[in-house]
Amino acid sequence: MCGIVGISAKKNVSSDIVQCLNHLSYRGYDSAGLSITKDNEIFERKIQGKVTNLENFLNNDPISGNCGIGHTRWATHGEPNTINAHPHTISNVSVVHNGIIENYHDLKAILEKSGVNFISDTDTEIISQLINIELINGKKPLEAFKNTITKLEGAYAIVAIFRGYDDLMIGTKLGSPLLYMKAKNMIILSSDAYSISDYGSSVTYLEDGDIIVTEKSKISLHDYSLNTIQRPSKKIKKRDKDGLNGHDHFMIKEIKEQPDVLSHALSYYLNFSKYKINLDKYNFDFTKINRIIISACGTAYFAGMVAKSWFEDIANIKVDLDIASEFRYKKMFFDNKTLSLFISQSGETADTLAALRHAKENDQKIVSVVNTVESSIAKESDLVLPIFAGQEIGVASTKAFTCQLATLASLVLFLAKKKRHINASQEKALIEELVHIPSQVLDVLKYENDIKKIAKDIHKSSSAIFMGRGATLPLALEGALKLKEISYIHAEGIASGELKHGAIALVDKKLPVIVLAPDDIFYVKNLSNMNEVYSRGGKIILVGKVQNNQLKDLKLTGINIEVNGKLNIPIIMSIPLQLLAYHVAKLRGTDIDQPRNLAKAVTVE
Ligand code: F6R
Repeated sequence: MCGIVGISAKKNVSSDIVQCLNHLSYRGYDSAGLSITKDNEIFERKIQGKVTNLENFLNNDPISGNCGIGHTRWATHGEPNTINAHPHTISNVSVVHNGIIENYHDLKAILEKSGVNFISDTDTEIISQLINIELINGKKPLEAFKNTITKLEGAYAIVAIFRGYDDLMIGTKLGSPLLYMKAKNMIILSSDAYSISDYGSSVTYLEDGDIIVTEKSKISLHDYSLNTIQRPSKKIKKRDKDGLNGHDHFMIKEIKEQPDVLSHALSYYLNFSKYKINLDKYNFDFTKINRIIISACGTAYFAGMVAKSWFEDIANIKVDLDIASEFRYKKMFFDNKTLSLFISQSGETADTLAALRHAKENDQKIVSVVNTVESSIAKESDLVLPIFAGQEIGVASTKAFTCQLATLASLVLFLAKKKRHINASQEKALIEELVHIPSQVLDVLKYENDIKKIAKDIHKSSSAIFMGRGATLPLALEGALKLKEISYIHAEGIASGELKHGAIALVDKKLPVIVLAPDDIFYVKNLSNMNEVYSRGGKIILVGKVQNNQLKDLKLTGINIEVNGKLNIPIIMSIPLQLLAYHVAKLRGTDIDQPRNLAKAVTVE
């Protein structure tokens, strides 16, 4: 996942930039680079692969200077090659960027019409091209930079250096983090405090829309209208070698990685600029398929449950879904028009592997959706669709679940198009939903403090109910699983309509009931079920469309989630449930990353 550094000092900054890139590398990346200004020119070195490749490159062909920027790139737009590596230098400016420029294809089309040639496949290049045009048109760097960012939509952290200005760095952020440190004889900008903690003990975080300008040893911060502003500095934790990056647990680290990993997964399967699904690259014949069998365990099974509704609704393909430990002993009515699909983070889950072998013995074509591409499940499949979640260490699956959904959504759209069940404009609208998911996850992560308050209120409960309908029923089951496995609170997920067929007997004023009600066709029905809980004194937590009158009249707690699409609801709404489980477990002092009795890969039946 991408990392940014920028250094201005009274000495050559090349080796310090490389050192910071090394410290950023724990995030995962596939290319690295730096650029430095000296004698009114910009010098750039970048290369595919590890930071050691960059070090070798610099040993053979060094660059030096007092001000420079560096980047580790985890490919999202465009292949992980040297041309797409950052920085992106276009004559007068060099830029590093984290995040996604969502409107880059529109901006690029405008520039291409006026004769601008693009060198890379990245969304970042549009930033360099736009700043360069402003500079050619006589604007000073700060104005050129500001005029450019006003045109950008998406989430980003950007740092730029300029030809003809040997000591100048300008940066900004929206959605993605950017901070600075005033170290000894040095100013450092970074996307990650942890990676620069060898240089000092406090940093200042920029807020969205802030612009930072550093020139020699001077730092100035500006708001969007270029008024000077101040931001408080914060003490930071020293870098450690445990890989937690300053987080208390892997689970929360992995929850927060989701905007990055989702954009990685989605950009592998989608061509953001052409609004196309990239699955044709696989030499796999989907044409005959008219039925899919899905099998998996635990959280991966709930991803399968979401996918079933997508395949049926969007691609018009009938799906039979089974828990792997049941599947292997059942009559499955295999035939040559059926595809068997297995979902597994580890790729080693014994029941899922046995189910796969059972399907294979029955001459089924096997597709697997896995995180670990070297796993047994991947090796025994005819087609492997990797989910790109990166290593998941916390036993409770979080980022793997949402990346499984992103991958499955791409497959659903591909088949829907192949079967001509969606037309071009429906396809475009659905892809558009997916494109916005990483930034929407980032927005929902901002509810963490509200969720901590809810966790405080419910962490002493002995039981909890999660309820949902349609798209949110699998999430109710997943939310309950997440809570019970790490907090050890008994939790049950139910279909909202089933409440009065039994579970309502449990409702009293101590029982938290988490109602998952997005702004979809079930909203009104979900609300009437919520009212049934309210009239019996239950403690309601509404996740979805929250209206002010509900907060007042029903005295409920709400997390307002504004998505309402078929594909984005399950992905976005799973985030608050992960955060809730985590914070409840934290307050209860359980062993969050390795809950009792559980293992990360269940390799026994
Ligand atoms: C729950 C969880 C488990 C796994 C299940 C399948 O948070 O992680 O329920 O989803 O054990 O594991 P994989 O996906 O590795 O096959």
